[in-house]
Amino acid sequence: MGRWPTKVTIKEVGPRDGLQNEASPVATADKIAWINLLSETGLSYIEVTSFVHPKWIPQLADAAEVAAGIRRKDGVTYAALVPNEKGLERALRVGVDEVGVFMSASETHNQKNINKTIAATFPVLEGVVKAAKQERKTVRGYVSTVFGCPYEGTVAVDQVLMVADRLFAMGIDELSLGDTIGVATPKQVEDVLAEVLRRFPAEQIAMHFHDTRGTALANILVSMEMGITTFDSSLGGLGGCPYAPGASGNVATDDLVYMLHGMGVETGINVEQLTKAALFIRDKIGRPLPSRYLQTISS
Ligand code: HMG
Ligand code: MG
Repeated sequence: MGRWPTKVTIKEVGPRDGLQNEASPVATADKIAWINLLSETGLSYIEVTSFVHPKWIPQLADAAEVAAGIRRKDGVTYAALVPNEKGLERALRVGVDEVGVFMSASETHNQKNINKTIAATFPVLEGVVKAAKQERKTVRGYVSTVFGCPYEGTVAVDQVLMVADRLFAMGIDELSLGDTIGVATPKQVEDVLAEVLRRFPAEQIAMHFHDTRGTALANILVSMEMGITTFDSSLGGLGGCPYAPGASGNVATDDLVYMLHGMGVETGINVEQLTKAALFIRDKIGRPLPSRYLQTISS
């Protein structure tokens, strides 16, 4: 490998991370139509919804209808977030390919987001991973607030490593490191990744940058230089975390694809189809989206 990988995998989280934070509801049929358009872009992974408590995230209360209603394309992994065994049962009933379990590196965000201490979260997620594996599902783990917490500020790298160790010990297949509130800068990414990669192979680590302060693409560039080849993003830059004040959207898939293709890094994504899907959801949301790339498209 040269300075950058020749190919990266983009995991589209817009239908989950994007829509979970949208104030105006998007109709179930529109979500399904959007995911069907995303399936035609060449993306190999789409996180379609989450089976959390509908009172906590009313925007995704239609998780089962969405997961059951989409057209599955061969070669695409359709994933969903689950917080506990109840969520897993709901997800398995509609047959998702992969589940994502999630927790935070910081105590206060974990408490606000999933109503448990970090210590009390481990046995819950352990049960989910075990049950999902029995059903032959792959499991993705997420750690939030890796680079900073909206309540506690600085988060110690040791805390991130401790949570990562526990999640890998449970048997997760991949870990996504979340900059939930978009505070990371490239030097910090380098420092944290240096520690993480001392323990875990780069192939099992994904980066999940929110672009709150405009540093996401720079952080991705540094991550690639350190050997990371999987990135989460959200078409149009939709998104946030409703339990992280000030969190705004994920890095925009379309901006990321523009940068990567310009550098000669393959993604397998067709830009024309991607733009079509972006314009579709922009029109349904009814306001301009944060993506820069979309602002250059006139229609
Ligand atoms: P709780 O109230 O503590 O749950 O919520 P509980 O276990 O005490 O159960 C209370 C009731 O809820 C029970 O019903 C359960 O059956 C029901 P009752 O017996 O009283 O009638 N219940 C459920 N119902 C449906 N689906 C479920 C479920 N679980 C329990 N899955 C809970 C705990 C975790 C459920 C709640 O806090 C929750 O749903 N939190 C989700 C918050 C969330 O979705 N946040 C955003 C996603 S994370 C994120 O965005 C970050 C990420 O993008 C990475 C990054 O950016 O850093 C991934
Ligand atoms: Mg997120």
